[in-house]
Amino acid sequence: MTDILDELERRRSVARLGGGTKRIEAQHARGKLTARERVDLLLDEGSFEEFDMFVEHRSTDFGMEKTKIPGDGVVTGWGTINGRVVYVFAKDFTVFGGSLSETHARKIMKIQDMALQNRAPVIGLFDAGGARIQEGVAALGGYGEVFLRNVLASGVIPQISVIMGPCAGGDVYSPAMTDFIFMVKDTSYMFVTGPDVVKTVTNETVTAEELGGARVHTTKTSIADRAYENDVEALLQMRRLMDFLPANNTSGVPALPSNDSPDRIDPSLDTLIPDNTNKPYDIKELILKAVDEADFFEIQEAFAKNIVTGFARMEGRTVGIIANQPMVLAGVLDSDASRKAARFVRFCDCFEIPIITFVDVPGFLPGTAQEYGGLIKHGAKLLFAYAEATVPKITLITRKAYGGAYDVMSSKHIRGDVNYAWPSAEIAVMGAKGAAEILYRTELSDAGKIKGRIDEYQRRFANPFVAAERGYIDEVISPRDTRRRICRALNMLRGKKLDNPWKKHDNIPL
Ligand code: HXC
Repeated sequence: MTDILDELERRRSVARLGGGTKRIEAQHARGKLTARERVDLLLDEGSFEEFDMFVEHRSTDFGMEKTKIPGDGVVTGWGTINGRVVYVFAKDFTVFGGSLSETHARKIMKIQDMALQNRAPVIGLFDAGGARIQEGVAALGGYGEVFLRNVLASGVIPQISVIMGPCAGGDVYSPAMTDFIFMVKDTSYMFVTGPDVVKTVTNETVTAEELGGARVHTTKTSIADRAYENDVEALLQMRRLMDFLPANNTSGVPALPSNDSPDRIDPSLDTLIPDNTNKPYDIKELILKAVDEADFFEIQEAFAKNIVTGFARMEGRTVGIIANQPMVLAGVLDSDASRKAARFVRFCDCFEIPIITFVDVPGFLPGTAQEYGGLIKHGAKLLFAYAEATVPKITLITRKAYGGAYDVMSSKHIRGDVNYAWPSAEIAVMGAKGAAEILYRTELSDAGKIKGRIDEYQRRFANPFVAAERGYIDEVISPRDTRRRICRALNMLRGKKLDNPWKKHDNIPL
């Protein structure tokens, strides 16, 4: 027996070394951790149970039968994050560059299948060179089956991807179909085809960082939801994120103990809105003051900053926050902001996370750039996402709610459950100046007259009461009471049950 135990330990030690000491050192020299180090940091100490540590590839082409490394370039298994089960796979760049073979793919599929069957999240850590070149079509088949599982699990269990090194070719599409992608600055990049192929095909000279680094994907393409300084920060933030997410689409949101009283009043909110309605203020101040312990996990903070999205808690239970940001482009809705928020709303709705919407929006952004870029379709995505969502939806209009953007931003008309407004709310077809200039075009040359018309429109519509008189606003509340009112509304909505008409699936304007 001792012999067998020794043999087991010997085999385990070989497997744990992955591609060997030299390659591990090279990995560290690049500022990256190894796959196993990453898994250890991500999961609760000692909770990782590894699967398939001894799996090897079966390829015999190009002399591959002579180079077999146990584990075959991916570390897989399950463990816990703050006591809650998650399934994990981590590409091991020290083994064939983390490239995907048929058996490597099978290991990932096993994790995906178990996660889906047992209804717990999957986290994938990527650091790999794409398809195992020596395996050809067997690797492509493996990718296809991983992709299929991503799609089947979508909306059932949260799927998270963290890009911690190269992620190219076949490796990009699995993360692209997961719920969130996070990157590590300077050491990670994602692209379908790398700089060499780009040079050959389009004659563009571009570095890997310029083509698909963290900056590009968090600010330009919006493919990545956030980027972190290094592996350690990224993994610790993933632990924080997982605390916000439900295990699956029927488990309900996690409930954590909270020391923040739901009755906490914040008098400073009474003066958040500047006297001049065209002056910006930071909507994040409202978010941080309203939620539990000012703890807000922002999603896509570097992209379309005119809208803010992220997770927070009210009385210990997760909520999704969407808020127009007056500090950026006056909080206007453009194509990017609409797409960003629509995807976030849909994530929340998939996983039964109540949505809180803070509205201060002057409308949709005019201009050829926006219209040619498909503003109609992108704006419709957000409208569609809010309208179809059946989770509890609480809306608070802090200041402007103009035009179509009023309807879109979780209004009563698209099934907002509780729609509050601050006394400073202005709910109208458009701003007073624009309205007066259209209605009284013939008086435009008379500055005094047109000013009177603007004032008249302002007096009539620059308040929440016209909407409140119609029941479009349920209640005009004091800013200082915001947290208390939202907490109460969330509690009142705890038993909400609303079904959309049966359909195979909807046809959201993609
Ligand atoms: C087999 C690979 C590999 C691959 C890297 N390696 N990529 N082995 N298949 N795809 C091996 C290398 O041979 C090397 O082995 C080790 O991993 C480290 O690679 P290096 O090149 O030394 O590292 P680095 O300089 O950091 O470059 C990393 C890299 C580069 C940028 C990822 O390796 C690279 O360009 N690889 C090929 C990427 C690619 O074209 N993949 C196929 C995409 S097509 P040794 O033994 O020397 O340590 C694809 C189609 C699928 O994925 C489509 C499905 C939809």
